[in-house]
Amino acid sequence: MNDLAWVAEQLAARRPDHSLPQGLYTDARAFDFDQEAIYGQSWLMAALDCELPEPGNYLALKVGNWPVLLVRDKAGEVRAFHNTCRHRGSILCQDGHGSAPKLVCPYHRWTYDLDGSLFAAGRMGEHFDKTEHGLTPIALRHVAGALFICLADQPPAFEEFGAQFAAYAGPLDFSQLKLAATDLLIEEANWKLVMENARECYHCPTGHPELGQSFPVHMVRHFDTVRNPEAESFADAMARSGLPHAAIEGPWWQLARIALNPGSTSISMDGAPVCARPLTTVNGSDVGSLRWALDPHMFAHATGDHVFVFICNPVGPRETHVYSRWYVHKDAQEGIDYDLTSMKELWLKTNAQDKELAENNHRGVLSPGYRPGPYSLEAEALAVRFADWYCALAQDYVAQHG
Ligand code: FES
Ligand SMILES: [Fe+2]
Repeated sequence: MNDLAWVAEQLAARRPDHSLPQGLYTDARAFDFDQEAIYGQSWLMAALDCELPEPGNYLALKVGNWPVLLVRDKAGEVRAFHNTCRHRGSILCQDGHGSAPKLVCPYHRWTYDLDGSLFAAGRMGEHFDKTEHGLTPIALRHVAGALFICLADQPPAFEEFGAQFAAYAGPLDFSQLKLAATDLLIEEANWKLVMENARECYHCPTGHPELGQSFPVHMVRHFDTVRNPEAESFADAMARSGLPHAAIEGPWWQLARIALNPGSTSISMDGAPVCARPLTTVNGSDVGSLRWALDPHMFAHATGDHVFVFICNPVGPRETHVYSRWYVHKDAQEGIDYDLTSMKELWLKTNAQDKELAENNHRGVLSPGYRPGPYSLEAEALAVRFADWYCALAQDYVAQHG
């Protein structure tokens, strides 16, 4: 049986509203499939624009195990490329943020301009055509200060998400942000277990006592059905301020502006802002949290004081890298307006708790006694949504390529 036929068999065995068949979480064939058919075909949030403030700034990152490069060119435009040299394929830039006037391959020094065109390549002979050897571009969309990429030759439709994201995020003006801190957490769990965990709060009341201080961990379904006086008055305040708040979703995205717990204006250890320099003065900077989430890989929360982004990247059937990024107003000063340790504390704790839960989940799924179990449709609606989305996209891919 080839790998696609094996994936098709796994997908056919899925029971509605149940977790996935074991092999889809544990088998190397599923991992290879997910790289190509899921991460390779989806719109992904790569960064916020503010991470590359100047021409020559770049960010090298991985999509699964595939290396990608974002670069701000001389004209100020951000471009995205496969991070692989057009000579013999070496990686050009190592992972992380950096800056360079030109992109120089470390192997034989082929040198690219910031727009991806090949500028120089030594000893290639008089018939060598540099114009045929520019970096291979990747689809990129720039919306409301955020950068989205898709590695597919024919990316899924983006416009509806782009328009809604601009409407929801616009008032916070992400162009006024700066990257304040990053973290990498390595989890010994399949990426789908990491993401299912990130999409439900069934485990939160017991699993995340600190998060429960400010975050409505008892929410049901997709935030939109939370009905209590505080949430109603928050919705009224947002409507009066002209900030969209309804929970909406599309095939691969969700957007909502949610009320935090009474007395909380930020998602933090005590519900108080972690940065004294607010991102907005609307409603006294109490704008709840703008949550956006993209399948397969991320969620983010933008409160009146800071933005937190969670990105999940699979690197093996049982290894997942979780990237955390915190952003504050670009004029905020560390040590005066914010303290890095206290700013990061809540999500570092929460992510460490989730790592333990996901790793424990993976160990249990490896058991010969594992049987896919039913999700709570009330408390795990977004995890079901994730699993359904995964199966639908996988089925489409198998149908087209099988
Ligand atoms: S592989 Fe890049 S210059 Fe040879
Ligand atoms: Fe969690």
